[in-house]
Amino acid sequence: METIRGWVLKKREHGNIIFIDLRNRDGITQCVVRRGNVSNEDWNKAEELTQESSIILKGEWRLEDRAPKGREFVVNGIEIVHLAETPYPLGKKEHSPETLMEKRHLAVRGQRYQAIFRVRSEILRASREYFMNNGYIEVSPPIIVTTACEGGATLFKIDYFDTPAYLTQSSQLYLEIMIFTYEKVWCLAPSFRAEKSRTRRHLAEFWHLEAEAAWMNLDELMKLEEELVSYICHSVAERCPYELKLLNRNPEELLGIEPPFKRISYEEAIEELRKEGVNINVGDEIGGDEEYILTKKHNKPIFLVGYPLKYKPFYVKELKDKSGMGATVDLLAPEGYGEMATGGEREDNIEKLIERIKGEGFNPENYDWYLDLRRYGSVPHAGFGMGIDRLTWWICKLDHIRDAVPFPRLFRTGKMI
Ligand code: 4AD
Ligand code: MG
Repeated sequence: METIRGWVLKKREHGNIIFIDLRNRDGITQCVVRRGNVSNEDWNKAEELTQESSIILKGEWRLEDRAPKGREFVVNGIEIVHLAETPYPLGKKEHSPETLMEKRHLAVRGQRYQAIFRVRSEILRASREYFMNNGYIEVSPPIIVTTACEGGATLFKIDYFDTPAYLTQSSQLYLEIMIFTYEKVWCLAPSFRAEKSRTRRHLAEFWHLEAEAAWMNLDELMKLEEELVSYICHSVAERCPYELKLLNRNPEELLGIEPPFKRISYEEAIEELRKEGVNINVGDEIGGDEEYILTKKHNKPIFLVGYPLKYKPFYVKELKDKSGMGATVDLLAPEGYGEMATGGEREDNIEKLIERIKGEGFNPENYDWYLDLRRYGSVPHAGFGMGIDRLTWWICKLDHIRDAVPFPRLFRTGKMI
């Protein structure tokens, strides 16, 4: 006799047989209750079961070609742990994105979300494994900070014991501190951006995977990123094929993600966009719409190398041979998804850094500790940051990034769960 526990997803009655689709961590199992196989009392229990009731079933497994996973559970005992109230707020019909946000605490039980967040969990597991296998030390950066990393416009201000402080936008500056101890470091932490716009790819709170390494240059950085992303894609393809299929992502597509990724320069990207009929010139910004055009025909990520310094934060190093251009690289996800990581070499000239900090309207005194890193044993170094939510969004082929995270924080979402 075996036992199976879970929640009732669906129940269908056919005369003397009741089929229960039981949902649990393994997915969905077809369970069959036959009137002759169970006591009258248990038959009555099966009849009164409501959607999302929690139950424990006793019985035997049987091979069954027509069942979703090739086997079904033949029931001979039923225990109702909790008979769910009716109607279930997320009953059978389709639901609007607003309802799925408001009822997020229940929506995450659904099959689609179950698949997405399992893939997300695998992305996190594989990331950690990659860094551990490659000699990176994991560090834990602070969330409450007093300096901006990515410009003043998207800072979330908080009241820290009557002193103003912010929620971190990126842990980069702290990773830069730690390379002087460990040389190769990484972290996984939430980052916050007060993005006052609604897009398919912006969250106010996201999970940020960041790495930084002493002695590293732009080329080595791209190698690190393409190896990491390929490693993650392969792990997900191998460990979550069932989930990927449910999300209409063919695992073969992820197995095809392998280094090297194509590199295109900022100038080449502008030229390609002009050929596509976009009204854009060298010196302009390449935004989400342009990234869509650049990536929609690709099935592997691409690197966009170099970017005008005037759009970039103070820490970006100027390219030696191209003044006004930054030694920075964006990793763009294919199929129209666009930016999923940004990284680059860090400015190590202290005078230039001070000027650039002032240029952003900040007081260099607040960055004194950061400037110390350029005073005591400065080394060339580079790093990057990748949004786990963006990566999940692309790997799971989702429309909107809010579905890549269980409890999204967006600009004016209404009720928050
Ligand atoms: O491009 P960003 O702003 O770069 C940095 O923060 C650097 N300091 C990272 C570094 O070099 N250590 O952010 C990096 C990545 C983006 O490419 C994107 O994937 C994600 O973080 N990201 C967001 N994801 C969701 N919603 C937002 N509002 C995001 N802002 C950035
Ligand atoms: Mg960026």
